[in-house]
Amino acid sequence: MPKLNIRVVKNSSDLAAAAADAVIDAANAAIQARGRFTIALSGGSTPEKAYELLAQPPRVAQIDWSRVHIIFGDERFVPLDDPRSNYGMAARTLLAHVPIPRSQILVVPTDMASANAAAQAYCNLVASHWAMNPADFPPKLDLILLGLGDDGHTASLFPGKSSLDEHRAWFIHSAPGVLPPPVERITATFPLLNAGRLVIFLVAGEKKKDIVHAVLTDQSHKYPAARISPDGGNVLWLLDAAANGMGQQAAINSFFREANP
Ligand code: 6PG
Repeated sequence: MPKLNIRVVKNSSDLAAAAADAVIDAANAAIQARGRFTIALSGGSTPEKAYELLAQPPRVAQIDWSRVHIIFGDERFVPLDDPRSNYGMAARTLLAHVPIPRSQILVVPTDMASANAAAQAYCNLVASHWAMNPADFPPKLDLILLGLGDDGHTASLFPGKSSLDEHRAWFIHSAPGVLPPPVERITATFPLLNAGRLVIFLVAGEKKKDIVHAVLTDQSHKYPAARISPDGGNVLWLLDAAANGMGQQAAINSFFREANP
């Protein structure tokens, strides 16, 4: 059972700083232990400020970027220069400003004929980068950053979609969910996400407080985000006070007390 931690900070600026510092801590621990740091970046808007902080002094000097390997937890099936591209957002806020070898940034090939072809090619790209077989168990990434959608999706694993049932492939294509942008996606699957050493959810804002509570007390795995449970890994929910709403830890404690009298 993974360890679940919840950390609540005052506001979205403190959330970005806490997220950037958590990335630095995970990077330095991984580089010390294994000589490299492997991370899956999240898309969406929440992580943008954290990525910007990582690309600026003093934080930018606190990671040996030559040891960093970056993949994407999900991507929209759009050109990389499309404003909806998760790669485009990461490049604008972080990747264009840090001395990471370009060969260590694994970009989803969204110029392929279909999202399905792009997902299959991405599996092969990630596997070959680490001399692995895409039919084998997925890589144990040091850190996976995830967001949370209002419908309980994470990465591009949307409620009710067949991508939730994928138990072998590391990445799969997904039809659009109900939330914008309504484009085909390529998403990491539960096998890859649940192989992570550390998963950090970054969630901010009042409008997320109900879904955060619903996911954190979801025993029936109704929400995709509730199925993130890395074997032997840890999960940290980094929330700002607005997203924490009714005080998640208290709610969860009381929920589990009821469930396990
Ligand atoms: C995406 C993201 C998605 C995102 C959530 C939260 O490609 O859209 O991967 O899972 O993290 O929808 O998005 P916000 O951070 O914009 O609220």
